[in-house]
Amino acid sequence: AITAIWRGKPVFIRYRTEAEIKAAEDVKLADLPDPQADKDRVQKAQWLIVVGICTHLGCIPLGQKPSDPRGDYGGWYCPCHGSEYDTSGRIRRGPAPKNLLVPKYAFVEDTKVRIG
Ligand code: FES
Repeated sequence: AITAIWRGKPVFIRYRTEAEIKAAEDVKLADLPDPQADKDRVQKAQWLIVVGICTHLGCIPLGQKPSDPRGDYGGWYCPCHGSEYDTSGRIRRGPAPKNLLVPKYAFVEDTKVRIG
């Protein structure tokens, strides 16, 4: 994943393989109020762009949990209170109440990333 700064906030830019997108479609989602069935973030783009700020209290999530027994699931782990997000930025484990934010206009074109 690449980390960039957009409007003073960190954003994560990640290329997802077909297998990861398929895995994200199949995953059983947590029963949380955020719109989990956000098809765009799962199915549309191989390039995923999410704001890298935990929706709990605003820490910056890192790569996957260092000692995760599930191996490389490629999502994000927030070291502050243990929230986990999947490769589509969807919340998999609280206390974070919402998915990582996807900027409304964000796409990758050739080698350029446009956000906002
Ligand atoms: Fe990320 Fe609390 S700020 S889990």
